[in-house]
Amino acid sequence: MRFVPRGTGHAIPKKIVTNDDLAQLMSTSDEWIKSRTGIERRHIAEKGTSTSDLGTAAALEAMDQAGWQPDDVDLILAATLSPDYYFPGIGVMIQDKLGCRPIPALDIRGQCAGFVWSLATAQGFGLTGQYKKILVIGAEIHSTVIDWNDQGRDIAVLFGDGAGALALELEPGIPDLSKRGIIDFVMGSDGGGAQALCMKRPGMGGQERFVAHEDIDQRLVHPQMDGKKVYVNAVSRMCESVTTLMTRHGITPSDIDLLIPHQANLRINETVREKLGLPEDKVVNIIANYGNTTAATIPLCMYHAVKDGRLKPGSLVMTTAFGAGFSWGANLIRW
Ligand code: ACO
Repeated sequence: MRFVPRGTGHAIPKKIVTNDDLAQLMSTSDEWIKSRTGIERRHIAEKGTSTSDLGTAAALEAMDQAGWQPDDVDLILAATLSPDYYFPGIGVMIQDKLGCRPIPALDIRGQCAGFVWSLATAQGFGLTGQYKKILVIGAEIHSTVIDWNDQGRDIAVLFGDGAGALALELEPGIPDLSKRGIIDFVMGSDGGGAQALCMKRPGMGGQERFVAHEDIDQRLVHPQMDGKKVYVNAVSRMCESVTTLMTRHGITPSDIDLLIPHQANLRINETVREKLGLPEDKVVNIIANYGNTTAATIPLCMYHAVKDGRLKPGSLVMTTAFGAGFSWGANLIRW
């Protein structure tokens, strides 16, 4: 059994914040941000919009393209690190907002690798044959936890809000290079990297209260990052994941039609591209317009690549991602 892509969707808040807008709020500049990250602007959710709202809108577009009604969906896999509530997750909220049957709706906590892990999870479920139509969603709202001032500038300039979705349908036949569908995946994690990129509060990490005033004073309620450590590990794990899949399937970079990397930093993606020996036109980069939307970056890239004709039925696609955890992975897909 194999899962074939039937539709892609996206949801991007209307409000745009440019690098120059950020320079009004903190000591930074368009030149610093663009040269270090490739980011020019990002979209920010309006008050009243939740992560599950964005995920639902992206899912509806993917369902529409696939020609599905809410009753058709058998399983929802929702990747996010920024859920509406601490619990329950956004999967169940999206299930309710879409008006689906009482189907299972799982949240996947793989951070930036969340969508890659969700596709791998979908592929695993394919073996059971229980779920024929799966919605895989990546959705994030980062803007509400960002510290929009000098202290938070290292993180603030990187992230944006948004969602993407993919509708997958089960087809008979063992996955292989000659058939459409998700062919294979790689997943990995190293909790030794957890301190290099994390948000510690609110949480149950041994303190007396879930969140306390001191946590706010100590800025533990904002993400913290060792940027250089993340950068170095991202390059090596993304290259390793792609190489593992290429070796396993006896293919070379010239066989890949499109590489869809996570969008954390254009320089990371450029280095990965050069190390793999891929030409520029085989790599999707949308970070200039959206910043890093974490679990949403890969489905957003898929949406745009389908729209501009770079991704069509039969294309051999490699995804790869790396993020907090550390967590990483790749998927090989015959689109
Ligand atoms: N504007 C201006 N200056 C800044 C800013 C900013 N927004 N943020 C930090 N700085 C300053 C720092 O204070 C530091 O100053 P100092 O040298 O006086 O101490 C200096 O800039 C650091 O500059 P560089 O060392 O040149 O920065 P670097 O080239 O390492 O780039 C960056 C930083 C962009 C964060 C890079 O390390 C990176 O992209 N790392 C990957 C992290 C990442 O992508 N995280 C996203 C989440 S994880 C994921 O999705 C994979």
